[in-house]
Amino acid sequence: MKLSRFLYHHTPHGKHEVRGIIAAGRVRVDGEQVRDSQFHIGDFTHVTVDDVVLRNQSPVYLMLNKPAGYLSATVDNEHPTVMELIDSSEALHIAGRLDRASTGLLILTNDGKWSRRITEPKQGVAKVYQVTTAEPITEETATHFQQGIYFAYEDLTTQPAELKILSSQSAQVTIYEGRYHQIKRMFHAVGNRVTSLHRLSMGSIELDKSLELGQYRALTQDEIESNWSE
Ligand code: URA
Repeated sequence: MKLSRFLYHHTPHGKHEVRGIIAAGRVRVDGEQVRDSQFHIGDFTHVTVDDVVLRNQSPVYLMLNKPAGYLSATVDNEHPTVMELIDSSEALHIAGRLDRASTGLLILTNDGKWSRRITEPKQGVAKVYQVTTAEPITEETATHFQQGIYFAYEDLTTQPAELKILSSQSAQVTIYEGRYHQIKRMFHAVGNRVTSLHRLSMGSIELDKSLELGQYRALTQDEIESNWSE
């Protein structure tokens, strides 16, 4: 967003006055005086006018080991939400939901650009899940997943997914999108049923094994940057 537009939305001044304030050198952006009304203001840019802070928001990135029973939503009247597990005053959103019964890696952030990089299907970021099923998992399932499963509701075929059978009724599944109930629907399509689903990783961000269910921690700088460089 341009600096003039930002000031117009964050102060009571009109467009003409805003231009005067900028030209008079009363605005500082990340500590530097800026007189260019076209100057780009990002989501986390620090802006002051006459030393009054208009915005001073820092990016926040958290990983939670989601327990079963919590909704991946900010508010709900019926069920507890993952937000109740997080002590943060920032307005966070979820980067890639998990179903209420699913567990494991859930990432929360206030950085929309960053979260789109990890969640948009076209970005093709790998998401790895540990799955247990009601019926034995066959080798043909791996072939079907590799070929893609047709979802009539969206009229699309899923991207090739990898299935590594771990035991008769458990497997590791890697998908490169994040469609609604994707893994449950993929198993349903081959006549099986998911009985538990646990997310292990998203891109190169792996669930920290030291986190108990319900615990969370901030992402490291390397983890944050890995999502930009994938
Ligand atoms: N696929 C599902 O079916 N559920 C999830 O929570 C995640 C992926």
